[in-house]
Amino acid sequence: MRFVPVNRLEPSMIVARPIYGSDGRILLNSGVELVDSYIGRLKQLGIPGVYIQDEYIGEIEYHDVVSEKTRTRAFSGVKETFESILVGKGFDVEVINESVRDIIDDIASNPNVLINLTDIRAYDAYTFGHSVNVCVLSVLLGFKMGLNELEIRELGIGSILHDIGKIFVPEDIIKKPGPLTDQEMQEMKKHSLIGWEILREHPEIPVKSARVAYQHHERPNGTGYPHGLSLDKISTYARIVAVADAYDAMTSERLYQEAIMPFEAIQIIDRLGGVQFDPEVANLLCESVAPYPVGCQERLSDNQIGMVVDVNQADRFRPVIRVIYNPDGTQIDGFREIDLAKESILSIVEVIK
Ligand SMILES: [Fe+2]
Repeated sequence: MRFVPVNRLEPSMIVARPIYGSDGRILLNSGVELVDSYIGRLKQLGIPGVYIQDEYIGEIEYHDVVSEKTRTRAFSGVKETFESILVGKGFDVEVINESVRDIIDDIASNPNVLINLTDIRAYDAYTFGHSVNVCVLSVLLGFKMGLNELEIRELGIGSILHDIGKIFVPEDIIKKPGPLTDQEMQEMKKHSLIGWEILREHPEIPVKSARVAYQHHERPNGTGYPHGLSLDKISTYARIVAVADAYDAMTSERLYQEAIMPFEAIQIIDRLGGVQFDPEVANLLCESVAPYPVGCQERLSDNQIGMVVDVNQADRFRPVIRVIYNPDGTQIDGFREIDLAKESILSIVEVIK
């Protein structure tokens, strides 16, 4: 399995991981052989790329933090909730509770798994997929911070609905392919307060969860909005969600922004810990992410090129690499894996996108 950007896809390649459309349904399932029309459609939908099966690389085991089923159901739950509010119908809190419960159950069964792969989604699915990812990351961080069962649930609900206020921000601002003007930014910033108000209309939503929508753009150094609160005034849940939100936004492909690699994103989060983010949460996130996820290709210091096939829990920056190209650029003959945790002489010098 390897990741191939959409412009390098070719007919007859076999899909290795399912690709989801904006409605959360599977567009192309694993095992499907690509044809020109599918590739054209993927381009149209803005899907950044596809994990394809690779005879040479073979099967690589990867462990997502939550199952595909949990992700898909949560995605649909968020979509249904957002759309129902948009048409003035309110929403069924039980749908959200169920999605959050699934996510918590998946993570509780293995809270030490590293954040390895992110899901691949259409651009217009960004808000829903982002909400699910932020919930997954937040719950994982909540476990690591030792929150109790009730707190994890409140955090889960707050995190999956943190951006709910965006449904009332004009779509041309949400989807603008470029920087926002001051006035547009003012409009965008209203989503915190709007989200808080929407959630407060539903007494079944805990106040502490609703406060996440209100405070997730507050920053410890007082530069956030809507109130410019300092660290001690920002709720623990909002501090967690702020970090999860930033991490997922940076590592996701968007209309106006190319995704950056996890190793770059954690460097940024680490640097901003204590300034823009709660330092403890920032630290925990950096420890929870695989900087070089399974499936990404790297150039090593001796010029060999290979693919990450496993991440060492104890030394996340030095994964196991399956070599594809020799230092002279020729494809290798046979099978060679290098565990960078054991081969200290070699290092990763470049991530090949
Ligand atoms: Fe937000």
